[in-house]
Amino acid sequence: MHSAVDVIRAKRDGGELSDAQIDWVVDAFTRGEVADEQMSALAMAIVWRGMTRRETARWTAAMIDSGKRLDFGDLVRPTVDKHSTGGVGDKITLPLSPLVAACGAAVPQLSGRGLGHTGGTLDKLEAIPGWQADLSVDRMRELLADPAVGAVVCAAGADLAPADKRLYALRDVTGTVESIPLIASSIMSKKVAEGTGALVLDVKVGRGAFLKELGQARELATAMVELGTDAGVRTVALLTAMDTPLGRTAGNALEVAESLEVLAGGGPADVVELTLTLAREMLAQAGIDVDPAAALADGRAMDHWRAMISAQGGDPDAPLPGARHTEVVAAPASGTLARLDALDIGIAAWRLGAGRARQGDSVQFGAGIEMHAKPGDTVTAGSPLLTLHTDTPEAFPAALDALRDAFTIGAPPAPTPLILGRITA
Ligand code: URA
Repeated sequence: MHSAVDVIRAKRDGGELSDAQIDWVVDAFTRGEVADEQMSALAMAIVWRGMTRRETARWTAAMIDSGKRLDFGDLVRPTVDKHSTGGVGDKITLPLSPLVAACGAAVPQLSGRGLGHTGGTLDKLEAIPGWQADLSVDRMRELLADPAVGAVVCAAGADLAPADKRLYALRDVTGTVESIPLIASSIMSKKVAEGTGALVLDVKVGRGAFLKELGQARELATAMVELGTDAGVRTVALLTAMDTPLGRTAGNALEVAESLEVLAGGGPADVVELTLTLAREMLAQAGIDVDPAAALADGRAMDHWRAMISAQGGDPDAPLPGARHTEVVAAPASGTLARLDALDIGIAAWRLGAGRARQGDSVQFGAGIEMHAKPGDTVTAGSPLLTLHTDTPEAFPAALDALRDAFTIGAPPAPTPLILGRITA
């Protein structure tokens, strides 16, 4: 007979939880038998005491078992997905999913909405008139099996890792998000439950990321790769830089427009580099020996994008929503843009209405920031550096306040790589 108090005390005192204790506590929490305050106390004990690889794997398995596990093993094409831990201007899923589908893999991507200064993929796609995030599992399977589509990006159903949904909401309000085993098990329980055969993780590091230091990011990436591997999903992680925003836009419709440039064979160099690097990793994990650069250049990825958007009710030809008001921030001096801070840009875009403060709030599709220069570019005093977009002009002062120290004009920055490391099992 288990008791929540015994499990909390065991972890509080630095003990290792048994498989039976973990299975019981996660299941009893899902059924409402373990109270929110007890689970919060256990989460705090885990923040302080950590969990071993065995405990974390069992915790993840228990969270997967709290709901349904999808299975796309009957598809002819191999399944592979990508997960990013979130960054400013990170629109990579948009060009990447149709690109990888165009190269012969099936991409079942369950995504989330944004909270705080990093945007969510579903918010970006919802900027496309008509596009719907909700799909039944049967429809997902149909679209993944269709060689003209091959990729879906949709909202996770309520029955996918429900223990994680409840636990994450508690962690959010009890200061218990910051724990490598809890973050790793939260992300991986959802990714394993979605039924992908292989997974590429993009773990962001730097000012605009959830993890600011390379050591922490490496630790999280290693924990997630171990969890994926233990659960039978071929998993690899890249550590990628997030000190500067990705690309030249942050904000939902602005990021869709930039993704379309990439799919049309253009777009900012960093977005193209990361899209192709992640596509190569995904195709390698899926066992497909194809160069994704060709599929981007010859329009096949764009064809898959159009099919994928139409299949989810969207009109790929409809004009994207724009914001009603804009304000330009001009360069205060001439020289080289030495620094553009991802966190400040993310917070400003969020204040303009591109993100939400609370779960359930709505976002403004047209809001966000266009960046007319990136670090290393030459700027002239008085020329536009940033354009701020919003429907609610009363948001400008708070956004401008966030941008007070967002950039430096001075000596050219030392070149920094986008890809900082690679973690395999
Ligand atoms: N994202 C998640 O899904 N879970 C966490 O714990 C942190 C980030």
